[in-house]
Amino acid sequence: MKLKILEIPHPLLREKSKEVERNDSSIKKLLEDMLETMYAAHGVGLAAPQVGILKRIVVIDVAREDEQPHPLFLVNPQIIEHSEETEECSEGCLSVPNQFAPVKRYVEVTVQYEDADRNMKQIKGDGLLAIALQHEIDHLDGIVFIDHLSKLRQKMILKRLEKNRKRKAMEEAE
Ligand code: NI
Repeated sequence: MKLKILEIPHPLLREKSKEVERNDSSIKKLLEDMLETMYAAHGVGLAAPQVGILKRIVVIDVAREDEQPHPLFLVNPQIIEHSEETEECSEGCLSVPNQFAPVKRYVEVTVQYEDADRNMKQIKGDGLLAIALQHEIDHLDGIVFIDHLSKLRQKMILKRLEKNRKRKAMEEAE
């Protein structure tokens, strides 16, 4: 089932998500729904608060369109190690539609998480995967990528979003 993706400035995107409890049997369905929602929106990552659920759950798939899908389900993920080195790369977010800006991130991170069957796992990623892991885990703490930008840049993005929304509303009204 496709879920509705919340966009900024929705207040739920600013909340800290809760650890998923051991006996929570709702997460398998949620993970599938989140993956479907992410693929439909052509995203590489989606965190549960983006669909209005304040649980520490993330789905990621950084495979290119011409590659086999390679979905990752992460429950209660946390960064346990990271490189000293950082790099600035352009980022976007399904909750900040069509807006992109450079964000500084660790080049490599190691994340500990539970998979869909609640087995403890670790994953080490660099490149796009490292960015996606940091971006999505930020969401679980109520942090959106624009928070890493200057106030001026944040204002510009919010303004453009507002403009796009108004235009869309007008087009729909015609
Ligand atoms: Ni995002």
